[in-house]
Amino acid sequence: MFDAKLIQKDFPILNRQVHGKRLVYLDNAATTQKPASVIAAEKEYYEQSNSNIHRGIHTLSEEATTQYEGVREKTAAFIGAGSTEGVIFTRNTTEAINLVAWSWARRHLKKGDEVLLTAAEHHSNLVPWQLVARATGAKLQFIPLTPQGELDLKRLDALLSRRTKLVSFTAMSNVLGTITPVKDITRRAHAVGAKVLVDAAQAVPHMPINVQEAACDFLAFSAHKMLGPTGVGVLYGRPELLDTMEPFLGGGDMILEVWRDHSTWNELPWKFEAGTPNISGVVAFGAALNYLNRLGMAAVRQHEKDLTAYALAQLGKDPHVTIYGPRDAERQGGVVSFNYGAIHPHDLGTLLDQEGIAIRAGHHCCQPLMRDYDISGTARASFYVYNTRDDVDALVAAIKKAATVFSGAFS
Ligand SMILES: Cc1ncc(COP(=O)(O)O)c(C=O)c1O
Repeated sequence: MFDAKLIQKDFPILNRQVHGKRLVYLDNAATTQKPASVIAAEKEYYEQSNSNIHRGIHTLSEEATTQYEGVREKTAAFIGAGSTEGVIFTRNTTEAINLVAWSWARRHLKKGDEVLLTAAEHHSNLVPWQLVARATGAKLQFIPLTPQGELDLKRLDALLSRRTKLVSFTAMSNVLGTITPVKDITRRAHAVGAKVLVDAAQAVPHMPINVQEAACDFLAFSAHKMLGPTGVGVLYGRPELLDTMEPFLGGGDMILEVWRDHSTWNELPWKFEAGTPNISGVVAFGAALNYLNRLGMAAVRQHEKDLTAYALAQLGKDPHVTIYGPRDAERQGGVVSFNYGAIHPHDLGTLLDQEGIAIRAGHHCCQPLMRDYDISGTARASFYVYNTRDDVDALVAAIKKAATVFSGAFS
């Protein structure tokens, strides 16, 4: 039985007050809070096993290596990767996408080739491809959105051609919450010979994801958006493909042998992990995966679906609220973006903060999407395992209170 109130007890930060009010944390799409077990795992690692990995023959180094590599196995199992060869630890989703941009795209793309993105991409899955396009002469194309904020997949076949070398898209929009049909797009992209990268920064934390079922070539996500620490990300890549790629960064650990004038590369996945990684962070990420495994990702999705449906219904009652995106919890993750009359989302965010409510306001690293909607930004409430209907009620009440401050702004 999924009990969010009980889950809240595992998160020390949720005991604190903000401006004298109970903290209602609704900024989970930006980063999530950490349970005591994750915080304890990092502390215990430093107190008991701190050492560098892969290099030492002493006990601490062996323990650290075992813990670090153990989390790689856990991560592979979590996303159904089949083996650990294709699981590379990075700093975050952004670095994972840049790894593909440098090690694969820059070497394979040329003038006339195309990279197909969507109109809803986070800057992390847009700017690296702009840089690739500038360096190679390849062209960026975009799948447009329908007025409901879903991908207009009727346009997909016209956009895909033999020129398309990569299709890179978010599995769930961090602004609209829209869930993308990953398998369908992947199948159609592969049919024209394109590779597929899934930006799963908002998907892996919130729903069951299996990379073998999705059949994607690459998939990227961040530990900090799924109860883990900052500074740890994951790139999954199909091992056969990673094998053909050149390293991203050069240095220690990613080599087999080094001469003055050349080097040979380590095996997968270490070929792509240069230098000392965030060992303590990866160890703590293991505790986050344990926590999510105990809850079950299907139950996490169901909980967020219930909360999203409730939030859409409650916010939708107020005629001054404009909600962006599908407005359907079946087709949308735990993200609700909205505006209130003519109140600037930053002003709304500041007033909600006075009530202890943390939301995000602004362009959410999706400036082109904001331009499509002809708005400067939105207020965004995003949910996770510890949020309850009480949190949604607190949000709605605080919005009403904020509206009285700005009562002239929308009459
Ligand atoms: C869809 C999406 N992609 C990529 C990112 C970038 O994640 P990070 O900052 O952890 O690299 C985010 C972060 O909000 C996101 O929501």
